[in-house]
Amino acid sequence: TIKCVHLSSGVTMPLFGLGTFKIRGQDTVHQVLDAALAAGYRSFDTASVYRNEEDIGKSMQTLLPKYGLCRQEIFITSKLAPKDQGQGACREACLQSLSRLQCSYLDLFLIHWPGTHKLRPEDPHHKENRLGSWADMEQLHEEGKVKSIGVSNFLQHHLEELMKACSVKPAVLQIEFHPHLVQRDLLQWCQQHDVHFQAYSSLGTSNQDNKLLTDATVQDVANRVNRTPAQVLLRWAVQQGVGILPKSTNPNHIKENSDIFDFELGDQIMQELTTLSRDTHYCWDPSAVV
Ligand code: A2P
Repeated sequence: TIKCVHLSSGVTMPLFGLGTFKIRGQDTVHQVLDAALAAGYRSFDTASVYRNEEDIGKSMQTLLPKYGLCRQEIFITSKLAPKDQGQGACREACLQSLSRLQCSYLDLFLIHWPGTHKLRPEDPHHKENRLGSWADMEQLHEEGKVKSIGVSNFLQHHLEELMKACSVKPAVLQIEFHPHLVQRDLLQWCQQHDVHFQAYSSLGTSNQDNKLLTDATVQDVANRVNRTPAQVLLRWAVQQGVGILPKSTNPNHIKENSDIFDFELGDQIMQELTTLSRDTHYCWDPSAVV
């Protein structure tokens, strides 16, 4: 059985799923999803900007029957592209994601980024656009087209603004999280407000010089507990109740990343990893978005 979390929407979501950023092309997507389903993954995270929704939708048409699964047994997340923010545009974009994924509903739909443009963090329209998007998301939720709604890359000030304006609160915050970026205050805020905290880039990105998998402390802990550095990083997150979305195109890694529910890291090791924090973003830092 897969460890799950209960969201404020009333929906149950697997604590771990497959990230799919940069996994593109029909053959690659098919092979990766096949390996993930075989390893027991039931949750899949995509986004309009990943440009793989069509490949995922197509692969699922043959893979779900292969594994004797129906749509209700898997959990699909997608995200609103920054360029599609705003009332009206958000709704249209969600319907297009549904169509590309060949789904009648999404399990979770997230606003991908607090701003409308990645490169213009000070655009005065960001606030109006994200609140407009949220109004659409609430309606999509009401209609059952999306079972839960949430946000990604929002910081506390973005979340507080949304909490004041919303009728349905965000069920999930998905954000970069790993021992080099422990997000202590944001995690605590989410726990206090029943917003499920979900990590991306738990392994520290696909860059050549990965500073996290090769971190001396992470490697030392891995040796001590007889696990791999990737498993230690993922376990560190889930032991804090944080959801994870590791991604890999390597079937051995895909399997390895799911084998993290049969061991535990002691308090001292958890602390050792947490003290590695240096506030390093390996992906994007949304703090400049007004
Ligand atoms: P690969 O596809 O060769 O497995 P993130 O999700 O943090 O952005 O990181 C994904 C990166 O981590 C990819 O480059 C992936 O490469 C690598 N990766 C995923 N799982 C493992 C693992 N178990 N061991 C080593 N590297 C991994």
